[in-house]
Amino acid sequence: MRINKRIFSSLRWKIAVAYLIVTGVGFFVIDASIMQILEKDYIDEKSKSFQLYALQTAQTIANSYYDKDPDIYYEIRGLGEEYSRIEGESTRILVLNRNGVVEYDSFQSVSLLRRDLKSDYPEIVSVLKGDFVPARDLYIYTGNPPERKRVMYSYAPIIHHSDGIIGMVLISTSLENIDALLGEISRLYRIYSAAISLAVILISIAISGLITQPIKELTDSITKMSQGHLNQRIKIHGSHELRQLGTAFNIMSEKLENLDNARNEFVSNASHELKTPLSAMKVLIESLLHMDMDDPGIYKEFLADINFEIDRLNAIITDLLTLVQLDKNVGSTLQKMESVELTELTRRTVRNLQLLAEQKRITMELYSDEDVVVEGDGVKLQQVISNLVDNAIKYTPEGGRVTISISKSPEFAIVKISDTGIGIPAEYLSKIFDRFFRVDKARSRSTGGTGLGLSIANRIVLMHGGYIRVTSEEGKGSTFQVELPYKQ
Ligand SMILES: Nc1ncnc2c1ncn2[C@@H]1O[C@H](COP(=O)(O)OP(=O)(O)OP(=O)(O)O)[C@@H](O)[C@H]1O
Ligand SMILES: [Mg+2]
Repeated sequence: MRINKRIFSSLRWKIAVAYLIVTGVGFFVIDASIMQILEKDYIDEKSKSFQLYALQTAQTIANSYYDKDPDIYYEIRGLGEEYSRIEGESTRILVLNRNGVVEYDSFQSVSLLRRDLKSDYPEIVSVLKGDFVPARDLYIYTGNPPERKRVMYSYAPIIHHSDGIIGMVLISTSLENIDALLGEISRLYRIYSAAISLAVILISIAISGLITQPIKELTDSITKMSQGHLNQRIKIHGSHELRQLGTAFNIMSEKLENLDNARNEFVSNASHELKTPLSAMKVLIESLLHMDMDDPGIYKEFLADINFEIDRLNAIITDLLTLVQLDKNVGSTLQKMESVELTELTRRTVRNLQLLAEQKRITMELYSDEDVVVEGDGVKLQQVISNLVDNAIKYTPEGGRVTISISKSPEFAIVKISDTGIGIPAEYLSKIFDRFFRVDKARSRSTGGTGLGLSIANRIVLMHGGYIRVTSEEGKGSTFQVELPYKQ
């Protein structure tokens, strides 16, 4: 029962039924109208012929009937047989007198002879009065048991040149053969219609298969994806719309797969980064445990190293949390929106890092336009500039120079941070914004970097609708340019 329900509610079945209904109704309408036209045509023709036969008979027998010639019976029997032969339908001729009483019957049946037919056939009165009465066809019930039969009656008055109407002729003809013919045509038509309808069903099932097959494939793929197999791609085929659907699906699944890979990579990178300080700490602590020394200086030294690793761990975790927080807001707008005085903010940031620069005897210079105001989150923007200036100091050797400038373009506020440092090899320029990426792993780790600074900065700037551009020359220095729109 459930299976039946599913089959009948399927698109394929619905399309087949729709086609069937359309062709079925079409055939029915055509059948009805064709049969009607055919029938009317046949009956019209018959009634014209028999009208003529009646007239012809009346004329032929007029004189003999006037003379009461008993040979009339043979005359009408001959005519009746001739008409039967021509029309292929059994035909009976009755001759009625002026009062509507049967005087001759070509079938010579006693049942009708001497009978007054006026009451059964009221039109006889009109014929005998000289009115034109058209032939009519009707169904009668005769025989035992009674059978429905189609017959046609046609009439003509017998007119004598001196006495006027002296009687009438009534021709009764069976329409059985026509009925049978029409029935046969109708039957054949129905058989053909049924055959064509069957073909329509088969063809429509086949055609709807073409439509539903890609949908089925798509559903299968989506089901597999939902079970975790993200490498699903489907063949692009079918109608234009289905191709579009297929293409969209493939793009989506590719993106999902990439996303999944990126996530896995991130998790493995993060674990690796967290493991490094932990292993260092373990080594330090194990050596401490196995040492028998009384010199507190050495303990202190080891503890300081452990403390350094803890700081690193802390820094990594803080950065990771920041990234996760930023990822949550990707695509959405910033939660906090305020006017940020960029000059003031940069000045403050540079002041905070002044000490760091002085330790490395690095000169810091700040050039700035006044009143550079953008809309955004001040705390996050400070983090961006702090990260970039920190990098500039970190990756510039002693005695170098870091220059910061703030300017306005028609569309963007621009913060430029240039250094005379070690620079970035061209092949890595596109990678430095990736999470955990460091040009020189060992070196930047020794300076305490996690490789997350630039990816955080980039994310924040993107959230503000801006860009970070970088140009660098190895051994000469780098320039990071942050462009922020004035309004979101
Ligand atoms: N001004 C610069 N000059 C030379 N190399 C740079 C500069 N800024 C960044 N880099 C390179 O890009 C890498 C990524 O920088 P990022 O700020 O993301 O990480 P980090 O500085 O190593 O660590 P963190 O900033 O998280 O403490 C750095 O490791 C460094 O190799
Ligand atoms: Mg950094």
